[in-house]
Amino acid sequence: MFLRNCWYLAGWADEVRPEAMIGRQIAGQHVLLARARDGMIHAMADTCPHRLVPLSMGQCADDSIRCAYHGLRFALNGVCVENPHGPVSRALSVGTFACEERHAAIWLWLGDETADPALIPDYGFIDRTPVEARVKGYLHSNADYRLMVDNIMDLTHADYLHATLLGGGINTRARASVQQDGDAITISWTANDDKLAPLHAQALGVADGKGDFYNNILWQAPGNMVQRIMLARPGEMATAPMDSMTCHVMTPETATTTHYFFCHTSDAVSADPAIAPVVLQGLNQAFAFEDKPMLEAQSRRIGGRDFWEQGPAMLPSDKGAVMVRRALDRMIEQERTVKP
Ligand code: FES
Ligand SMILES: [Fe+2]
Repeated sequence: MFLRNCWYLAGWADEVRPEAMIGRQIAGQHVLLARARDGMIHAMADTCPHRLVPLSMGQCADDSIRCAYHGLRFALNGVCVENPHGPVSRALSVGTFACEERHAAIWLWLGDETADPALIPDYGFIDRTPVEARVKGYLHSNADYRLMVDNIMDLTHADYLHATLLGGGINTRARASVQQDGDAITISWTANDDKLAPLHAQALGVADGKGDFYNNILWQAPGNMVQRIMLARPGEMATAPMDSMTCHVMTPETATTTHYFFCHTSDAVSADPAIAPVVLQGLNQAFAFEDKPMLEAQSRRIGGRDFWEQGPAMLPSDKGAVMVRRALDRMIEQERTVKP
């Protein structure tokens, strides 16, 4: 049910300190992410081959992991290097996964096809932004990751769910356009000389609240999305836009739970990184207190049943989300059918 041959954002790079590890479930797999003394990230199965306990409950030292239960010790390539109870054998090794550190994140490959780092989504905007101006966060959600992707691919919900900050009707009035380029899908919304959302009008400093608005989302499988919002005083989009980029990455944890990683950067925060905590608070307000309860309630209501079999009514604003679901379903199906 999950895509295997793809890059999953498994964590922010700074979550795994030198010579430390974290355990995390990604697309149903229990994975341990550890950082070696040379700074390199390694990923291995987070299950001890002996009694199947989480290895991440053990100790990470000397480029190895010692199981906390009976002391088996494993090198970061998964090979058992010490067995206090008998000989070291091949049966004691732990599976490993390809992983890469890029764009301040750890990317994990769970599939059996060769992992190609060139397929990691290009979030170079993060690298080009000073650390103190990156508004980076994480949110755990008890919702199906595909519902969380739908939510970003249809931002008309902002007019209602985020009415006081990001709403007001412009997201619904804006002209939407959806495009497919290979497996990537883009949706954008454009409005000119229109009443901006309250937060955007404030950011732009327009007394009558009016401006030009461009909002674009690029989706890449399975749940990697990057958003660009540009605002300008009427007629000034080409000459004096306020620009921002945000990635919204929905990594499935299980069939019904999701890791939501986001990183927002903007001209405004780069100009004054001191406002980063306030911006983070605003994003958390929207994601944690407005999106999350709605998507968790939606996920509970669907209750693990197939989304399409519930016969949901489709609106024109669902076009981007529907195209994404179709593309993802097709990729998962392709993977299933080519495997023995
Ligand atoms: S469970 Fe890990 S050493 Fe026994
Ligand atoms: Fe939202």
